[in-house]
Amino acid sequence: MKKKLKVLMLFYSPYQKPRGYDYREEFADPDNMYTEKDVKEALLALGHEVSLLGVYNDITPLFEEVQVNKPDIIFNMMEMFNDQTQLEKNMAALLEIMGVPYTGSSAGNIFVCNNKALSKKIFNFHHIKVSKFHTYYRGKRKRVLVKLRFPMVIKPLCEEASRGISQASIVDNPQAFMDRIKFIHESMQMDAIAEEYIEGRELYVSVLGDKQMTVLPFREMLFGKMPEGEPRIATYKAKWDEAYRRKWGIKSVEAANLTDDLMVNINDVCQRAYQALDLESYVRFDIRLTPEGEVYIIEANANPCIAKMDEVALSALKAGISYEELIQKILDSGLSRQ
Ligand SMILES: Nc1ncnc2c1ncn2[C@@H]1O[C@H](COP(=O)(O)OP(=O)(O)O)[C@@H](O)[C@H]1O
Ligand SMILES: [Mg+2]
Repeated sequence: MKKKLKVLMLFYSPYQKPRGYDYREEFADPDNMYTEKDVKEALLALGHEVSLLGVYNDITPLFEEVQVNKPDIIFNMMEMFNDQTQLEKNMAALLEIMGVPYTGSSAGNIFVCNNKALSKKIFNFHHIKVSKFHTYYRGKRKRVLVKLRFPMVIKPLCEEASRGISQASIVDNPQAFMDRIKFIHESMQMDAIAEEYIEGRELYVSVLGDKQMTVLPFREMLFGKMPEGEPRIATYKAKWDEAYRRKWGIKSVEAANLTDDLMVNINDVCQRAYQALDLESYVRFDIRLTPEGEVYIIEANANPCIAKMDEVALSALKAGISYEELIQKILDSGLSRQ
């Protein structure tokens, strides 16, 4: 029997609630905080003592919680702070300063993974294939770089969960390019990245571990009956709109029909990518496999979605790791961090 731990679950809440709020109502709604609910149930099933803290834009309750309840570890599920994804790293940095063990990626890892240009620069250095790209910062002169080829994908530089990604993100001419950069700068108030579009199958590869890493069985996004000629990408709607997914038959499944050579190659690329960024705990790579069998990393996700129905947990299950075992591994990895 593993040691019973006092675990403080720290998660993003779209509204600030006082310490001790039980989130019973929110957790009971299957469309709401299902990840938090899954993790809480797994922690309880493992015999741990669980307390909950949702944070929106005030960190005072976190200080109080740590001072009063003295958790053995914080299960860090903060995805943003005050509606800003790029402040996710600051929350992990805060936990580092407070000196409480916490799960998942370090602040440094979150910083590097969250910035789609920075991570690509490091991958480039390590000869890991990524799209050719250029960054477009707000307030600076914009022009279409001749060194990039259409079609391109225009994305927010530091965003997650396909926020800001729709079919209009794929552009094939200078006007559409400019319009989309303008949209990200002005409507989303974010810097932008333009990447060459990589045609191919979309795979999700989860990796667990620290010094010893385990690449879990791959998953694939199928774009079903989406019309030929439409770019097959994981837009916001393709990820989160159930009715839209049903309409077009978009779903994520175990990746099939990969030759042994391809599997070895994908495995090798993801291991090298994990080492290149010096990642920890649980990570998910979004990759594209071209018809020629080339493996491109689209992005590395530090602290990816961890609900039972998400890619990491489904891949772990396929590898024979139950959800509870996965959550315990994540705790162990957080506790073993120096
Ligand atoms: N360079 C690219 N080539 C092809 N598809 C891409 C490219 N960049 C992004 N996509 C598509 O857009 C989706 C979201 O992009 P991603 O960089 O993973 O953003 P997020 O962090 O929001 O998940 C990807 O899963 C993929 O389907
Ligand atoms: Mg992604």
